[in-house]
Amino acid sequence: MKILVTGGVGFIGSHTVVELDKAGFEPVIIDNLYNSDLEVLKGIKQITGKDFPFYNIDCNDIEKIRSLFEKEKFDGVIHFAAYKAVGESVDKPLDYYENNLISLLVLLRVMKEFNVKNFVFSSSCTVYGQPDKLPVTELTPRKPATSPYGNTKAIAEDIIRDHVYSAPGIKAICLRYFNPIGAHESALIGELPNGVPSNLVPFITQTAAGLRESLTVFGDDYDTPDGTCIRDFIHVLDLANAHVKALELLNEKQDSDYYDVFNVGTGEGYTVLELINTFQEVNGVKLNYTIGPRREGDVEKIYAQSDKVNNIMKWKAEKTMAEALRDAWNWQLKITPKK
Ligand code: UD1
Repeated sequence: MKILVTGGVGFIGSHTVVELDKAGFEPVIIDNLYNSDLEVLKGIKQITGKDFPFYNIDCNDIEKIRSLFEKEKFDGVIHFAAYKAVGESVDKPLDYYENNLISLLVLLRVMKEFNVKNFVFSSSCTVYGQPDKLPVTELTPRKPATSPYGNTKAIAEDIIRDHVYSAPGIKAICLRYFNPIGAHESALIGELPNGVPSNLVPFITQTAAGLRESLTVFGDDYDTPDGTCIRDFIHVLDLANAHVKALELLNEKQDSDYYDVFNVGTGEGYTVLELINTFQEVNGVKLNYTIGPRREGDVEKIYAQSDKVNNIMKWKAEKTMAEALRDAWNWQLKITPKK
């Protein structure tokens, strides 16, 4: 089955391409390289031994997307391509709404025109805001988004749901990711942040590699065992595999208006300090860090209840946080320029 992977050169997209190939799907990658690097395709080739079709196309360009759908006969679409920096989205909300929502509308429209039925969307646990009760299940009410980025995810979920219920034939799954970390165990692909990383693990690996002086831990006065925030850190390969399972589930579904959302997390929460300590232990490196003030907009604690994805999709996180941190470090060592 031929699957269009938008943003397939990015962090989660590239790992998903590898997992799709392993499961017998044929990925076709599009990416506008806004926040990704063509070198990643070499890594994918080294892992899989294959050159998957790649097109430098922006998902907002409906004519190019149409031409692509004419050329390649897709059986499904996994839509990763989006802007994803929470802080930047506060400064440039229009860019975020335009890029993240128009691209979605274009894809859904063209899928309908070409009768492509299966759609998997990258959503985020950010749609829960700070939940009143933990762990969060898919029935936990969504909260108003704390950033335009988060709002694009919530609006996108609604658009997809409304479209599925109005257009018989299309089936869709939104995956609500918790915090993806790590890299492929081969260290041939991994995360390539643009500029100063805003996410925790790339900042840690760059600091440990000497590219940054020190990590600031944003706040140690939260209501958690050590005062730092709690997150559900999931290995990116496990997350990638959830997309394969989502496609398999969509294929099985006979009802023509199937729509569902799934949490994709490990079900376990760890504090930022626990993650830092695990990173140091598993890799035998010392990390410079200081405690700083809280970062505006951060949620105190969130982790998934993953029963639904375990039971319905038959998916479970297999890798530990320690493995993810080892893989992230090996990847950082591979890409750090030698002095
Ligand atoms: C955020 C979004 C998530 C989105 C992700 C993409 C929210 C609630 N979550 O995740 O939906 O998919 O960004 O980028 O909007 N930290 C430090 N020092 C640092 C960096 C981070 O202490 O230099 C801490 C943060 O305070 C947080 C944890 O590490 O407690 C994880 O932060 P990060 O990796 O940025 O992810 P989230 O904010 O959880």
